[in-house]
Amino acid sequence: MASYTINVNGQQRQVDADPDTPLLWVLRDHLDLVGTKFGCGIAQCGACTVHLNGTAVRSCSLPVSNIGESQITTIEGLSEKGDHPVQTAWLEHDVAQCGYCQAGQIMSAASLLSQNPTPSDKDIEGAMNGNICRCGTYLRIRAAIKTASEKLS
Ligand code: FES
Ligand code: FES
Repeated sequence: MASYTINVNGQQRQVDADPDTPLLWVLRDHLDLVGTKFGCGIAQCGACTVHLNGTAVRSCSLPVSNIGESQITTIEGLSEKGDHPVQTAWLEHDVAQCGYCQAGQIMSAASLLSQNPTPSDKDIEGAMNGNICRCGTYLRIRAAIKTASEKLS
């Protein structure tokens, strides 16, 4: 067990955990940030996606000891009032079905648009193909990303 101070959603948070504890469990069990979901645990589904310095990463496969000074953003910290352009576009397109994968989808989409505000269909496919949706909301996800892109450009 070791003590770590990590930056999550703009706040310094102290966590006592084993060095190999995945960030996902730190977020959910230590910090009560349960918007980030556990799906596969092996970086294959995207349910656990958060931002590390603005880039989408799989928190299930990122040990807390590797985070250092990096800035972590979870779905709870993406916007103050749930009004990030990706979030409002998601609502406009009524994207979610069961909802389980959606925090990860939104975090991947927000990361994509921060790096490429006008992505092509191919760009969207490339950025999102690691995020699995068992409910098959892919067409609405793509439409919402295009709407968010229009809001941002
Ligand atoms: S739970 Fe992390 S990618 Fe599936
Ligand atoms: S909305 Fe159900 S898994 Fe994606």
